[in-house]
Amino acid sequence: SANTSRVLRGSILHCLDDPTTAGEAAIHYVADGLLWIQDGRIKHVGEACDLKQQLPAGQVIEDRRGCLLIPGLIDTHTHYPQLSVAASPAGTLFDWLEQRAFPAEAALEQPGMAEVLAHRFIAEMLRNGTTTAMVFAGVQPESADALFQHAQHLGLRMIAGKVLQDRLVPDALRESPEQAQEETDRLIQRWHGRDRLAYALTPRFAPACSEALLALCRDWLRQSPSLYLQTHLAETREECERVAQEFPRYKGYLDLYDQFGFLRPGSVFAHAIHLNSDEQQRLGESGAAVAHCPSSNLLLGSGLMPLKALQQAGVPLSVGTDVGAGPSCSVLKTLADALRVQQLRGEPLGVLQAFYLATLGGARALRLEQEIGSFRQGIEADFLVLDLEATPELAERTARADSLEEMISLLILLGDDRLIAETNIQGRRVTPVGPVVYGQEA
Ligand code: GUN
Ligand code: ZN
Repeated sequence: SANTSRVLRGSILHCLDDPTTAGEAAIHYVADGLLWIQDGRIKHVGEACDLKQQLPAGQVIEDRRGCLLIPGLIDTHTHYPQLSVAASPAGTLFDWLEQRAFPAEAALEQPGMAEVLAHRFIAEMLRNGTTTAMVFAGVQPESADALFQHAQHLGLRMIAGKVLQDRLVPDALRESPEQAQEETDRLIQRWHGRDRLAYALTPRFAPACSEALLALCRDWLRQSPSLYLQTHLAETREECERVAQEFPRYKGYLDLYDQFGFLRPGSVFAHAIHLNSDEQQRLGESGAAVAHCPSSNLLLGSGLMPLKALQQAGVPLSVGTDVGAGPSCSVLKTLADALRVQQLRGEPLGVLQAFYLATLGGARALRLEQEIGSFRQGIEADFLVLDLEATPELAERTARADSLEEMISLLILLGDDRLIAETNIQGRRVTPVGPVVYGQEA
């Protein structure tokens, strides 16, 4: 019915493919376009002058000229309970885990805390233009329920799981494999494949897991291949040394995960900084994806991600904010840090590539290319309206941008939450709450 149709007029930008391999043809840009949404999905994208004639009589066109419409951003690695310690002073990984992350996750024990943080996290995520995230909850199964419940209420496409850990961590955050199995089985039953939600097995990382716990994950993946898996891999050198000491029977960190069946499409490894070229190659063959988390890496001093080597090895790449080691839920700021990190490596990251990582690249990493990440016909209409006049310098510079690279560079390096004028989920605006007044009409 006409009620479920929306048409917005503005500039439109999305990826059809990976610009690293497909070049400029990977990017679709329409300076004066229409985005036509029906029943929460993309019906058509095109030039305003062509598409206008095809619209049903009386169809309202929402005027967003001066704005840029892009797909919602995808954050493939973050920890919602850690929002409460994001941007606190940090040390290196293990000190930070002990002093910041574990206490934040232990605080979820307090009644009502998981709900409060889940709501805060999703609000902050949407305000920053993220429409889908792959999220670590806490070890408490109720903490995963709280996140899924709120995501379901808002109609979000989300992937999450309760953390699995049975060593290294404080007693209060540790559980037996038997208990973990029972709780995780219940969560999978309740949430996996329900509406737009999916469950991710979430072993924290090898140093926090016994072989019995890793074996449970292997068995779950065998039984239910549609499950996701998320964990950390080779984030810091110290962590890699610890894994070598504690798992001497394996060839290395990656081999350990490989032996437990983790190297497969649908697995997302955060970081993957300190791998040798054989391991990078093996990762590429496996179809498992990597979440690059540069803001976290810089603050914990973890290392400079060899993004180009992983890309050349064929690893599906995406970006993660890694809140709370990462300071904010802003994927734009994360992309800005990704540009800086690759400059420091002397392997510059193109801005088109950066934009891809946060949209279609994220969707591919999550095996959701048919659902989200672009404006192809039939894709779910999770999209952003970017206010190119959000700040004086953005207005000045975007008006004069003479290439797509220039435009995207300005969005990444000058853009923050003010740039995100609207976040829409399945064609419905969810932020900001209440009416929006645009510049010219005010
Ligand atoms: N490695 C194991 N747990 C964590 C975590 O919570 N954050 C980060 N950045 N790395 C980890
Ligand atoms: Zn993390």
